[in-house]
Amino acid sequence: MNNFITLGQFIIEKQAEFPYAKGELSRLLRDIGIATKIVNREVNKAGLMDILGSAGNTNIQGENQQKLDVYANDQFISALRSGGECCIVASEENEDVIHIDSPVSKSAKYIVAIDPLDGSSNIDVNVPVGTIFSIYRRKSTNGKASLSDVLQKGTEQVAAGYVIYGSSTMLVYTTGCGVNGFTLDPSIGEFCLSHPNMKMPENGVIYSINEGNYVHFPIGVKKYIKHCQVEDKLTNRPYTSRYIGSMVADFHRNLIKGGIFIYPSTAAAPKGKLRLVYECNPLSFIAEQAGGRATNGTTPILGLEVTELHQRTPIFIGSNAMVLEAEKMMVLTPGNEYINDLA
Ligand code: AHG
Ligand code: MN
Ligand code: MN
Repeated sequence: MNNFITLGQFIIEKQAEFPYAKGELSRLLRDIGIATKIVNREVNKAGLMDILGSAGNTNIQGENQQKLDVYANDQFISALRSGGECCIVASEENEDVIHIDSPVSKSAKYIVAIDPLDGSSNIDVNVPVGTIFSIYRRKSTNGKASLSDVLQKGTEQVAAGYVIYGSSTMLVYTTGCGVNGFTLDPSIGEFCLSHPNMKMPENGVIYSINEGNYVHFPIGVKKYIKHCQVEDKLTNRPYTSRYIGSMVADFHRNLIKGGIFIYPSTAAAPKGKLRLVYECNPLSFIAEQAGGRATNGTTPILGLEVTELHQRTPIFIGSNAMVLEAEKMMVLTPGNEYINDLA
């Protein structure tokens, strides 16, 4: 008898701990897990596309071969549609929310926000990419669910997770009772519990930021980078710099080894680049559940007001002590904007 717990078993066992749970959230997580395996299959053969794909990027059924982020988006939406537990999907790939109108989803009470393929510019060069998802309970009680059901603070998330399609494929998620990681065993096609109760180290020696934008960073971020680079034996500095360009992959490494990931505001993008609803909130929920920290420089990400579906925010996320140190260095003007030094 094999001694492993699959994602499906784990979800069912956890549900049993909540006597009044009706299983909807479990089914929703299961639907996401299934779509993940389909996307994984496609990501794994991305390099073969040119060899296997016929002229004009048309596949054997005569359909156009789609870019992987569109493909992943379609897979997640169709899994959620047939599962029937979700009434609205908000995706990076769609300007507006998608209403799931199927007979099964009539009374669905969950909202899913998703970045179907994170780090998609890395696909062509065989560097890990990911998927990020966030689940909310519908707030409105009658009529059709709407955008306002999506615009909830990160503190309202009932579950969040990510998948990393890397040297192995892992799914990591939380429902607010700790963080658990599952590794896909391709020989049986199952995610198996490999990282129970994940904890982010309190401190680390890795900092992760696109330093190419240095000249446009706020003064506080420049100060923090200098802090990382200064020699200090007591605190193991200088730290190591690692930047993959797939937030999921950078976050995953820091979750396991300890570290900080920063995507700050820049002079060109004062609101930062990364999206609050389907990138920053879910990863911040996981970070906090693992003992880490996530802020926009002054305010916890999970406490930020959400006013737009594709809202952006600066983010500092990772080991608690490192994020605290970076926050201390952020300097605000009287108008509450970060001071940018363009010199
Ligand atoms: P996406 O592929 O979903 O658009 O996200 C890309 C994001 C994130 O994954 C990564 O950390 C960041 O963009 C990289 O941005 P830069 O190239 O500006 O560093
Ligand atoms: Mn992304
Ligand atoms: Mn994306």
